[in-house]
Amino acid sequence: MHAYRAALLSFADDGSARYEQDGLLVVGPDAAGAPVIRAAGAYAALAGNYPGVPVTHLPGRILAPGFVDLHVHFPQTDVIGSPAEGLLPWLENYTFPHEARFADHGYATGVAQVFLDELLRNGVTTALTFCTSHPHSVDALMEASEARGLRMIAGKVLQDRHSPDGVRDDTEQSLVDTEALIRRWHGRGRLGYAITPRFAPSCSEAQLRGAGELAAKHRDVWIQSHVAENKDEIRWARELFPEARSYLSIYQDFGLMRERAIYAHCIHFDDEDRALMRDTGAAAAVSPTSNLFLGSGFFDYEGAIRVGFRYGLASDVGGGTSFSPFHTMLAAYYVGREGQTKPGISLSPQNLWWQHTAGAAEALGLDGVVGNLRAGCEADFLVLDPQATPLLARKTKNARDLDELLFSLIVLGDDRVVQAAYVNGRPAGAPTIRAEEP
Ligand code: GUN
Ligand code: ZN
Repeated sequence: MHAYRAALLSFADDGSARYEQDGLLVVGPDAAGAPVIRAAGAYAALAGNYPGVPVTHLPGRILAPGFVDLHVHFPQTDVIGSPAEGLLPWLENYTFPHEARFADHGYATGVAQVFLDELLRNGVTTALTFCTSHPHSVDALMEASEARGLRMIAGKVLQDRHSPDGVRDDTEQSLVDTEALIRRWHGRGRLGYAITPRFAPSCSEAQLRGAGELAAKHRDVWIQSHVAENKDEIRWARELFPEARSYLSIYQDFGLMRERAIYAHCIHFDDEDRALMRDTGAAAAVSPTSNLFLGSGFFDYEGAIRVGFRYGLASDVGGGTSFSPFHTMLAAYYVGREGQTKPGISLSPQNLWWQHTAGAAEALGLDGVVGNLRAGCEADFLVLDPQATPLLARKTKNARDLDELLFSLIVLGDDRVVQAAYVNGRPAGAPTIRAEEP
């Protein structure tokens, strides 16, 4: 057992943040021997309950839950910053040619390491990620994640049409491969599998039907795809599936909407789409840096809240421009807020942070498992330095309340704030912390 003494950030059930200026986080094995958070709260209230437990004192630091990235593409790590007129030319000119390189297993293995290094440097300890259509791209990421003890969810992309040679898969084989990957990886240690139809325009009806059948057979496996991101994409989807009520309802028609189904973007929705999200328990992966970069539009937070479906934040690298949850939270603020050209909501810093931690975990059905610092949660946490840069030091020292502190970090923060990331109770590779042992 080990304890950490510092300020402590966590989230209540209603999504509001809790902050202990002098907190204690106690980490130790659960009944099965897995490292979990045994207690989290005020130092004064808890310290006496753990006599003899060594305490690492981290004055001036904040202990916070590891961030959860609800939608990212590990093979697009090197696609970041590829400008295009919109989604479809971006896929054709940059993304598909790049993903074709993952036919080489060695290349996939190398990028998997770079990807995980980037996630952890930025404080992301769980991600729901696309791989490529090559089954061994899943093996590469899962092996690397397992070696680091990460809770990672990933899947082989399904795309049997409207895709170039090198990434297009075969309908039958793609479904056989998906089921073999589910059996190999889902529930192995902390790993999970996601059935991954790229988006309706890249999948035949037979492939979508097969994906839906697998989703019905393996109920605790995740589903991930894209929907209603771009107007050209939507027009194309509607042409290909003229019977469907809307783009989103294509997925419903093939049995791909349920709890644990995460749809990236969800921008161009009507209220029937929103109600379908709510009624099926599916969740939106809001990807603001990607939507701004590709000119896709603005996620409608007011609509999501009014109708009441689940959502959380995502980087969507490489359409997204940054692995940093700080950059993503700031972009979500820009996207969400009202302005003189559009209505909107000024999201609070507590809510933005929740969307990237406890809220994202809830969207995955992993509330109480990751994304929070509470007794029983797995021990994935960050040590944050609110004085990581001179300007942050000035701002955070003068913060009058929690909202001011969190907003300063969201606006000015990046990977320099993340002094250490702990994964399953152990410090992850790169960053080191200067700890004072009392
Ligand atoms: N739609 C289909 N594939 C993709 C992708 O790789 N990125 C984004 N942003 N949208 C997609
Ligand atoms: Zn995406």
